[in-house]
Amino acid sequence: MIQDDATRWDLIHKKSYKTSETHSKYAEEKEALFPRNSLVVELGAGRGADAIYFLTKGHSVIALDISPFALKLLQEKVKGLNLGKKLVVRQVDFGLQAIPIKDDSIDVVYSRISLNYFGAKQTTKTFKDIYRILKLGGMAFITMKSPDDSLEMQYLERSSTLYEPNVFIEGGMLRSRFTQEQLKVILKEAEIPGFELDSYQEDLTSKGEEHNKTLFVNEINFKKV
Ligand SMILES: C[S@@+](CC[C@H](N)C(=O)[O-])C[C@H]1O[C@@H](n2cnc3c(N)ncnc32)[C@H](O)[C@@H]1O
Repeated sequence: MIQDDATRWDLIHKKSYKTSETHSKYAEEKEALFPRNSLVVELGAGRGADAIYFLTKGHSVIALDISPFALKLLQEKVKGLNLGKKLVVRQVDFGLQAIPIKDDSIDVVYSRISLNYFGAKQTTKTFKDIYRILKLGGMAFITMKSPDDSLEMQYLERSSTLYEPNVFIEGGMLRSRFTQEQLKVILKEAEIPGFELDSYQEDLTSKGEEHNKTLFVNEINFKKV
């Protein structure tokens, strides 16, 4: 049976859902840099642990994700916390659609390990779109899984089909693990005038991850000028 990506992600979220989900260290670190009471767009918010953290800090959040199941869970949790008025959710497939938000309207675009499901051309389009929706002075905080996790790379190289350099087809989905050099080319092609690109290792112990204790990512930051 061929599954569409929304169904595939619904199943992944149903399997991995835990009642005690905590926000990420990355969210905590970056939220400290957000202007107070920001309008935040989270790309690939999933079940929304980070979105909820931003709401509790007084920001408004537009949470976008391909999985209706994850977004529904997020809405229910937020209703229970009485924070619903500051949250909007929308189902979006970043591989097929533009970000459904008007130009120059957002203070912060945040995305944690959710833009790893596309080839270089689509990733370029998505970065262009992120820049488009940011207000002047608005900021983007993005992490993408990197090829620095050598065990994961060995697994991908062994068990998947190569689609493009550092983009693999695995379990019916694309998975990119772009190097910083590749990301530089993508960000330049997206016409982002200035950006910072760093490798970042996120400690996952506080998220209760049993297998992977460290997440190897590239972090991309830029400001709209
Ligand atoms: C690894 S999870 C990360 C979730 C969350 N940001 C976090 O830090 O836990 C990747 C997320 O991207 C979403 N996603 C995957 N492909 C997508 C697509 N094509 N369009 C929109 N969202 C997508 C998934 O549903 C999932 O919530």
